Amino acid sequence: MRIEPTIAGTREALMAPSRIGAGIGLVPTMGNLHDGHLTLVGEARRRVGPDGLVAASIFVNRLQFGAGEDFDKYPRTFERDCALLAEAGCDLLFAPHEGEMYPEPQTFHVVPDPALAGVLEGAARAGHFDGVCTVVMKLFSIVRPTLAVFGKKDYQQLMLVRRMVEQFALPIEIVAHDTVREADGLAMSSRNGYLSAAERAEAPALNRALRGLVEAVRAARAAHAKARLDRARLAELENAAMAELHARGWRPDYLSVRRQSDLQLPSDAQLAGSEPLVALGAARLGMPRLLDNIEIQGPDA
Ligand code: PAF
Repeated sequence: MRIEPTIAGTREALMAPSRIGAGIGLVPTMGNLHDGHLTLVGEARRRVGPDGLVAASIFVNRLQFGAGEDFDKYPRTFERDCALLAEAGCDLLFAPHEGEMYPEPQTFHVVPDPALAGVLEGAARAGHFDGVCTVVMKLFSIVRPTLAVFGKKDYQQLMLVRRMVEQFALPIEIVAHDTVREADGLAMSSRNGYLSAAERAEAPALNRALRGLVEAVRAARAAHAKARLDRARLAELENAAMAELHARGWRPDYLSVRRQSDLQLPSDAQLAGSEPLVALGAARLGMPRLLDNIEIQGPDA
């Protein structure tokens, strides 16, 4: 695996004659890699084939961290990450220092649609998605991949990147990969490393609460349900799921069922019908803040 800290070196590596015409698959990361990331690398390889080029990036992007967030303590495990990527079949790693990526303050930003970027994670982390979209656009412009693979664990991020690519007509296929989980259901995340032993034992409760919410929504949408699911009933189910976590010592930001298409609240008619939905949750367990989500297909899907 070739490791390139510079934009010029990365562009030069991508010009190699053997690669011309073959696809380039990119997996953008902030490092501290786990099996979830390595699965995305495997998916990129599966898609571009043996003659294509699989690239990954490692860059802890200051722009997407708010004041008081964990930018400084975000785990940096570069040597280990390189070994894991090489083993997973990555060909090229773009790993710039901050001065390479942002040689001067980045004053041009990608400002995503507030209807999508201002809810859920965007409401809890002001400006977060401006930073994500700006760095992803820059990574796309440096690597010029034919496809890029993102995990569904960061569901809203994935949707925003998709919308950005559509609206700017970028010739890049955005591939979504299912969330990779630990055996007890916890979604893999670099931030799981912040959990104490007791918190790690408790952490799958977020996934359980979401599964409970999804089951309740499915049951209420089923043909034989006593009453039609509407927004008032949905709010009761969401509040009950949040209360359950709260009682276990969590501080939930949201557990919310949204439309898959745009992450807005479904109407009564959509709840009663077959609109594809997704249950999303974010909650703090001690200091660490965990995210998860589960898609809900319509009752007749
Ligand atoms: O999901 C992440 O790790 C980051 O948000 C990304 C996409 C690499 C941008 O910094």
